[in-house]
Amino acid sequence: MKYSLTLIALASTALTAPTQREERGLFPGFGDSSSGSGFGDLFGGGSGSSGSSGSDSSSGTSSASGAASTPSSTSTTTSAQGTDALGDFSDLLGGSSSVGGSTENGVTDNDGCQPLTFIFARGTTEMGNMGSVVGPPVAKQLASQTNNKVTVQGVDYPADAAGNASMGSSGGPKMASLVKQALKQCPNTKVVLGGYSQGSMVVHNAANSLSADQISGAVLFGDPFKAQSVGKLDDSKRKEFCAQGDPVCLNGGNVMAHLSYGKNAEEAAKFLVDASGVSTS
Ligand SMILES: *[C@@H]1O[C@H](CO)[C@@H](O)[C@H](O)[C@H]1NC(C)=O
Repeated sequence: MKYSLTLIALASTALTAPTQREERGLFPGFGDSSSGSGFGDLFGGGSGSSGSSGSDSSSGTSSASGAASTPSSTSTTTSAQGTDALGDFSDLLGGSSSVGGSTENGVTDNDGCQPLTFIFARGTTEMGNMGSVVGPPVAKQLASQTNNKVTVQGVDYPADAAGNASMGSSGGPKMASLVKQALKQCPNTKVVLGGYSQGSMVVHNAANSLSADQISGAVLFGDPFKAQSVGKLDDSKRKEFCAQGDPVCLNGGNVMAHLSYGKNAEEAAKFLVDASGVSTS
């Protein structure tokens, strides 16, 4: 029990991000807690090495092809708790992803046309259709950087472990159809995409069924497919954020790093605005 409390404190620390206005998803990308195996696996099979903080054991390749310098994670020390505590944390999640996330339906509600449309796919176990870790802060940044000239839409898809195992195919078609709907309603809007964790695989999947002129930019966070293009989108219009230590995008063994992407929201939004060519004045 004491471990649980300690870990909540650690998680809160790790989740401190520019906009902490609501509860954050605890461990998107690590959703299948009912199996109890997720964290153990991520920490090297639960071998009990209680000192393993991920960042110095990064076995993965350094960074994705298109990735610019990825700032190192601010959250470092999960190490003291060891694997027993991680087991407790899995129990805490209990298979019920109980924390909040937000929802945006600017496209499906046909809220009116804006120069920019942002469609986002959240990570595994995140709630709402935007989740909480990185979708909402990027949307907020886009609004402020474009003077509110953006329509925001989350992808309604299960974001569960089964979908994750199918590598984006549970949300990809849905995201692709949202892109088409956005362009049909607003032929002049520039559509940019975002995805986090499983959601980044959703972006790849969606883009494979879209033409080059239907997407103007994409930002991906903790992307297992970080080495792959986004459909026919020029690679200069795709940006991968893979934090040092993030095991999901194969950059180490620090689970907390996978939760760190809120701090990249401003940079990601700027990238999308630039890629879209939408005027910010
Ligand atoms: C989702 O899939 C990716 C890539 O296969 C994997 O790295 C990650 O651990 C998976 N997450 C869950 C919750 O299964």
